[in-house]
Amino acid sequence: MSNVKIGLVGAGRMGSFHAETVAYKIPGAELAAIADPVPGAANKLAERLGCPKVYTNPEEMFADPDVDAVLIAAPARSHAKLVVAAAKEGKGVFCEKPMAVTLEEADEAIQAMRQAGVPLQVGFNRRFAAGFKEAHDDIKKGKIGTPQLMRSLTRDPGLGDPTPIPEWTIFLETLIHDFDTLLYLNPGAEPTDVYAVADALVRPDFKDKGLLDTAVVNIRFDNGAIATAEANFQAVYGYDVRGEVFGSAGMITAGDVRQTSMVRYTADGANSDTCRKDTELLHDAYVAEVTSFVECVRTGGTPYTTGEDAHRALAIALACIESVKKNAPVQVKGNTQLI
Ligand SMILES: NC(=O)c1ccc[n+]([C@@H]2O[C@H](COP(=O)([O-])OP(=O)(O)OC[C@H]3O[C@@H](n4cnc5c(N)ncnc54)[C@H](O)[C@@H]3O)[C@@H](O)[C@H]2O)c1
Repeated sequence: MSNVKIGLVGAGRMGSFHAETVAYKIPGAELAAIADPVPGAANKLAERLGCPKVYTNPEEMFADPDVDAVLIAAPARSHAKLVVAAAKEGKGVFCEKPMAVTLEEADEAIQAMRQAGVPLQVGFNRRFAAGFKEAHDDIKKGKIGTPQLMRSLTRDPGLGDPTPIPEWTIFLETLIHDFDTLLYLNPGAEPTDVYAVADALVRPDFKDKGLLDTAVVNIRFDNGAIATAEANFQAVYGYDVRGEVFGSAGMITAGDVRQTSMVRYTADGANSDTCRKDTELLHDAYVAEVTSFVECVRTGGTPYTTGEDAHRALAIALACIESVKKNAPVQVKGNTQLI
């Protein structure tokens, strides 16, 4: 069977990691082309990974018959348009989160991919992390009864220069993972309303430029569960991603801040090493999601994380933005109105 040939869109931090995964870590996958509008960016990565073709215009790459499917790791606000353009050329798409930043463009992207009849997967990697997947499977089987209290958190290890961070990133690009996680860990339930509080506590000097680096969100679900999602852009101890579901018959936790299960006991006490990068802490989940996508392209199967999942998480993120603007609880709109 011939290799699945992948074209990468966006040769930045995440794109480079995914490109290495395709080039070296997935049997039966091949990095066929890279597109990035910044002159030289695609060439540099292509040279390093032995990729034969580069483009500055992603649409030209979508039309390339030597590309079977594409992996989009461009900036968030370009995603939906790129998904629609790839669909027009009949290419399967793996799109980094968020797939879109408005519900209208999310629906347009989903519709375009449905018409093309090819797989659309979204980069909600926590669903591919063994602990979170096992938690979901157990909760679905009813092992902890009905979820009552839920919690999901993301703490990034270090905030660099905040200047290029677009407005509302904490909801649209960071907490979007937690919103998806809470939906995943509360199967079949719909979010009804949210109350979000956010501030610039790491870099208060950037607050008047629109930076929000710390947020807490309360989410109510229609099965009664009350959830908290929280994020901060600077956890000095390392990258931290965890989840917890407390139910009528028990509790489940997932995620671990420790790099491995090793604990060092010395005269100073007990301590463990932590990860300084998302791609270290969740390395296996990142590889697993792209491996799964390649398999879907090969078989025509349905991805484990879909455009519809992206729409549902986005509906919560948009409600959070409205809640912060109004400083009040707001209803989640659009989550049940999928086209
Ligand atoms: N799943 C995760 O845990 C995770 C982690 C980090 C980033 N991400 C997501 O990945 C995406 C990229 O983030 P990043 O940190 O790699 O950003 P980045 O800024 O490092 O890279 C973006 C790249 O896209 C290129 N680019 C800009 N506009 C483009 C366009 N219109 N078409 C194609 N390429 C374009 C840029 O030149 C750059 O090389 C974002 O959506 C981000 O939210 C996901």
